[in-house]
Amino acid sequence: MQSRYVDGLTIRALRDGDTETVAALFARLGDRSRERRFCGAKPRLSDLELTTLARVDRGRHVLVAYADGDPGPVGIARLVRDGDSAEIAFAVADDYQGRRVGSILASELAADARAAGIAQLTATVCGDNPRVIALLERLGSLDMSWQGRERGIVVGI
Ligand SMILES: CC(C)(COP(=O)(O)OP(=O)(O)OC[C@H]1O[C@@H](n2cnc3c(N)ncnc32)[C@H](O)[C@@H]1OP(=O)(O)O)[C@@H](O)C(=O)NCCC(=O)NCCS
Repeated sequence: MQSRYVDGLTIRALRDGDTETVAALFARLGDRSRERRFCGAKPRLSDLELTTLARVDRGRHVLVAYADGDPGPVGIARLVRDGDSAEIAFAVADDYQGRRVGSILASELAADARAAGIAQLTATVCGDNPRVIALLERLGSLDMSWQGRERGIVVGI
């Protein structure tokens, strides 16, 4: 995939096995963000988790966002395909949250999903997370169901 430039962000596909970029973004997340992303405390990523998050193949697609003037990744969006559905997850560096990085990544990821024939996206949202709900609402029709403290979300795209 060619890199794309959208509203001040360069969006690139993660190279398979690029654990360095995954770790660099994780290092820019505070405790609260890590908890929201991983649905529980996550002070560090194990080697296995890093390898899994950096895996890219026919069913796994990851986009990374870079901001002008900042050499490190500022956001990451991940999709894991299961038939014509795909599970998605996002993380934006704390210093960049609320600045539309997540929205831009989500819309680029959804465009890639549609182009690959994926009709619905699923996400697990833990606790209160109005930003991610707002971001998902803009992608398509939302169906939410509570599973304990987590919300299972299905987005028709
Ligand atoms: C959730 C997350 C990916 C959103 O990315 P972001 O770049 O911070 O979000 P954006 O700036 O694109 O804003 C997304 C939406 O939230 C809204 N929003 C922004 N700040 C908000 C706030 N403090 N409260 C409520 N909504 C807010 C924005 O208006 C936008 O909605 P809109 O598109 O209807 O205008 C990011 O905050 C993050 O990484 N959080 C920690 C990890 C996480 O929660 N991951 C999600 C697990 S799937």
